[in-house]
Amino acid sequence: MNKLLTIKDVAEYLQMSKEKVYKLAQRGKIPVSRIENQWRFRLEKVDAWLEANEMGSIAVAAQEGVALQVPIRAEPFLKWAGGKGQLLRQYEEFFPKEFNNFLEPFVGGGAVFFYLFNNGRLQGKKKIFLIDSNEELINCYSVIKEDVEKLIKILNGSKFINTEETFYKIRSEEPKDKFERAARTIYLNKTCFNGLYRVNSKGKFNVPFGGYKNPLICNSRNLIAVSSALQNVEILYGDFDRCLKLAKKEDFIYFDPPYQPLNKTSSFTSYTKKPFGEKEQVKLSKVFKELDKMGCKIMLSNSDTSFICSLYKNFRIEVVFAKRAINCKPSGRGAIKELVILNY
Ligand SMILES: C[S@@+](CC[C@H](N)C(=O)[O-])C[C@H]1O[C@@H](n2cnc3c(N)ncnc32)[C@H](O)[C@@H]1O
Repeated sequence: MNKLLTIKDVAEYLQMSKEKVYKLAQRGKIPVSRIENQWRFRLEKVDAWLEANEMGSIAVAAQEGVALQVPIRAEPFLKWAGGKGQLLRQYEEFFPKEFNNFLEPFVGGGAVFFYLFNNGRLQGKKKIFLIDSNEELINCYSVIKEDVEKLIKILNGSKFINTEETFYKIRSEEPKDKFERAARTIYLNKTCFNGLYRVNSKGKFNVPFGGYKNPLICNSRNLIAVSSALQNVEILYGDFDRCLKLAKKEDFIYFDPPYQPLNKTSSFTSYTKKPFGEKEQVKLSKVFKELDKMGCKIMLSNSDTSFICSLYKNFRIEVVFAKRAINCKPSGRGAIKELVILNY
């Protein structure tokens, strides 16, 4: 294919900023031609760079009516508080080598699901269940699975622009249509302060406007990849204990609940209107033990507190280090200890 791409096309195609593409071209990493004083890239050269950089498996994406052979990794489409993206390398050694089905009952942004999917670890699995008790989040997953093109069309429409006035208008709306609701959630996540999802006690999204210069509100390429990753997945709204009815022997269950706060002043992030306190942590440990008896392989992330250690004292407890963006103690800046609890 001889398609010539602009710097904007390449940035979108590679999911990186125009500045980064510019730097790669300047350093000669991606060959570029000048045509009528404009930079133009050949698709096959961009693909060659992608391949050399091992950016993932080959898939076919239909963008702007052109079928492009592109290496696609499906990545979390929302920034989510407590997202596990930065811990995946440390988690690698803890994921079971062999398992039957996969269940993730606190899916959030889905960093672990997408990681396992991109690395071919969910290939051939009969069943994959993603569960969360945040209704808006689950609606996004369902809509992306069902008709991603329709969602992209809505997000790319004139409504979703990055101005303060539009942000607060859209934040105050409660659309009934499921596609409009998903578009609203994605838009708010991309344009709000710090890109986080947080609701008040009435369940209303309450994060202020972020005022970012040029947020990518609709990352079509990733949404298409996510949609394709979800085709074999059951997406369920509800409490984590739903997994008790779904799991079978040898299934792998990854639990990433809201963490037990390290102290009373720890910043609190509410994903849903129902808080996740000690009572829920105890209930979760009971579900963990039940699944253990059923012969499932279970991995659970949580903070390093004596309370959590006591709940899982009969299981294997490993330590990982997470980077913390904000930490008032100078000694605590950098990395903070977290736990991974395993029954295998
Ligand atoms: C720490 S986050 C998960 C983050 C996720 N692992 C990621 O990488 O983005 C916890 C998730 O649990 C969900 N949640 C809270 N209470 C729940 C419950 N009782 N049952 C199921 N999900 C719940 C929240 O909506 C949130 O998405």
